[in-house]
Amino acid sequence: MSSATATETSAPLPKPSGLEGIVAASTALSHVFGEEGRLVYRGYEIHELAGRASFEEVAFLLYHGHLPVAKELADFQQRLNANRTLPQGLVDLIRSLPADTPPMDALRTGVSALGNFKTSEIDIEPDIDEALILLGSVPSILATFHRHRQGLDPIAPRDDLNTAQSYLYQLFGEEPSSDHWQPLETYLILLADHGLNASTFTARVIASTGSDICSAVTGAIGALKGPLHGGAPSLVLDMLNEIGTAENVDAWLTNALDSGQRLMGFGHRVYKAEDPRAEVLRGLAERASDPAFFALSHTTEKRALEMLEERKPGRRLYTNVEFYSAAVLAAVGLPGDMFTPTFAVSRTAGYTAHVLEQVANNRLIRPQSEFVGPTDLHFTPINDR
Ligand code: ACO
Repeated sequence: MSSATATETSAPLPKPSGLEGIVAASTALSHVFGEEGRLVYRGYEIHELAGRASFEEVAFLLYHGHLPVAKELADFQQRLNANRTLPQGLVDLIRSLPADTPPMDALRTGVSALGNFKTSEIDIEPDIDEALILLGSVPSILATFHRHRQGLDPIAPRDDLNTAQSYLYQLFGEEPSSDHWQPLETYLILLADHGLNASTFTARVIASTGSDICSAVTGAIGALKGPLHGGAPSLVLDMLNEIGTAENVDAWLTNALDSGQRLMGFGHRVYKAEDPRAEVLRGLAERASDPAFFALSHTTEKRALEMLEERKPGRRLYTNVEFYSAAVLAAVGLPGDMFTPTFAVSRTAGYTAHVLEQVANNRLIRPQSEFVGPTDLHFTPINDR
């Protein structure tokens, strides 16, 4: 049966695949200069902040638009610390999850449920207090789940530790050495915000409907999980483990590319130059990780870039943030399946800052679709079909 499709009577709308190049929001939080390989938070180049500011200073900067003075930072830190202790009901819920739940799914469930245990504090008008509930709670949710799946009790947070220290302390039960928490803190700064990436866009869309901040961050976590976005670093680790030795690099990469696989940790929708975060993480990985593992990572990166250039000339595929995230997060003691959740620890600052920015000047985000189906079908009763 032939059928008509929809015809446009008005001027055609642009419909780039994957919304590439579409401006869908205005933001003063951060910007990715893709051609130049630059990332700016609130006017500061990422290199100004990484390794120099604390994660709390950067989170404050994203929320408030300026770096805090000492008193503002102390107050911010204290409010964050107060939110690290989870409601007992939420702890019990997290500890009721099957031990084989992927941590990213446990986080999604935990953030969603957080709203149910904080009904007097989280409503449909997101504010900075609610943002700090999320920012303080996310590391504790993850640490509680990670210990639960090993049959261990949760560890109470300590007020004298910063976010990176507290996260590692609550995960492993020991005060972390500076060799561990400092690279993690730099990682958290680098990943805190990144323009209108897929998960941040998700958070803004949800916030634009008048929904609550837990729903917005829950949705964002769901979007972050996919390997085309934040789910790549554990796959980078898997790739490097499979490659195993420098002698296997070429054969492994050739086989992967011949069979149409994408190399995890390479390529980016916006960057058409090296991702500035990858550059910092490469340096951190060199200092923090096992020298043999770093050497394998570096050889793999070099050959992958050469092969991608040969096979995909002109696509400008460079190392992205995820490639060396794997080495850095492994070096600070995290297992592979905690890499993407740890990305979420950092990006919760960006998500919640974007939610606040969205609701401060809200208009429902509601794009159009291009309809490609038929329009002239007639109903047939079920017995006549
Ligand atoms: N390996 C091999 N080929 C690649 C890769 C890769 N990693 N990335 C892109 N390409 C190729 C595509 O096959 C395509 O080739 P074609 O033109 O011959 O069909 C071309 O480069 C352009 O790719 P697109 O899919 O149009 O690029 P897009 O902007 O949609 O994708 C993405 C960006 C998803 C990051 C992609 O580069 C990718 O899949 N990378 C691997 C996964 C990854 O590292 N994810 C983390 C991203 S960083 C982050 O979100 C935090």
